[in-house]
Amino acid sequence: MLNLANLAVDHGKLRALWDVSLTVRAGEKIGLLGANGAGKSTTLGAIMGLYPPQSGDIVFDGASIAARPPADNVARGIALVPEGRRLFAEMSVQENLEMGAYLRASRASLSQTLDYVFTLFPILREKARQNAGELSGGQQQMVAIGRALMSKPRLLLLDEPFLGVAPLVIYDVMDALRRVADTGVTILLVEQNIHRALDFVDRAYVIENGRSALDGTRESLLGDPEFGTKFLGLE
Ligand SMILES: Nc1ncnc2c1ncn2[C@@H]1O[C@H](COP(=O)(O)OP(=O)(O)OP(=O)(O)O)[C@@H](O)[C@H]1O
Ligand SMILES: [Mg+2]
Repeated sequence: MLNLANLAVDHGKLRALWDVSLTVRAGEKIGLLGANGAGKSTTLGAIMGLYPPQSGDIVFDGASIAARPPADNVARGIALVPEGRRLFAEMSVQENLEMGAYLRASRASLSQTLDYVFTLFPILREKARQNAGELSGGQQQMVAIGRALMSKPRLLLLDEPFLGVAPLVIYDVMDALRRVADTGVTILLVEQNIHRALDFVDRAYVIENGRSALDGTRESLLGDPEFGTKFLGLE
């Protein structure tokens, strides 16, 4: 479904990605791991079309989408839940959700999709008219995920969706994401907490200093001494 081949991306004069390659098949849950500044958010942003690559390619559904504008990619079925949520704090929960359905195709089924999001996160139905800025961290994250789902994506990019979410609520959010995945939506998840990430995904890729370093299933990564030393603090 998605293939990144030797992707290089600059932020101004600074090279953030040097050589990132990964493959995501339809229906998979894939993790993207790495230290602070490794290039995880840049990778998701490049897929979404926010950062045009300097070299390499991004292929989605068999066609290159490298440097396609984000709105095109939303129309193709990709949605991003950005790092830090980026909600409109002064707008209501429902208005924030509706922002995710700005394409004509998704407006047609807006009330149905809204109902789906409210079923996934029942608390948001209760808080629909409240300003998003007044919600707890976990509830805001639900709005951010819900907003992404409003465009009915086939590929959902999640950038640290559990950050700032209370430990017990993390289970609710994770459970909701599992239910989304069960409907056939493919997931690419950026997560700092290695164990939490490996609990959720089928396979994961590790980025180090803008380069693909390791990849594999939960079992193969946890059994890999290099992974253990670098990421789990094992000697
Ligand atoms: N908008 C930007 N302008 C300039 N440099 C940037 C920008 N965004 C990221 N960078 C730089 O690019 C590199 C990769 O950053 P990126 O945000 O992709 O890393 P990350 O793996 O998501 O890190 P974190 O875990 O801290 O979120 C870093 O060196 C960062 O400082
Ligand atoms: Mg990041």
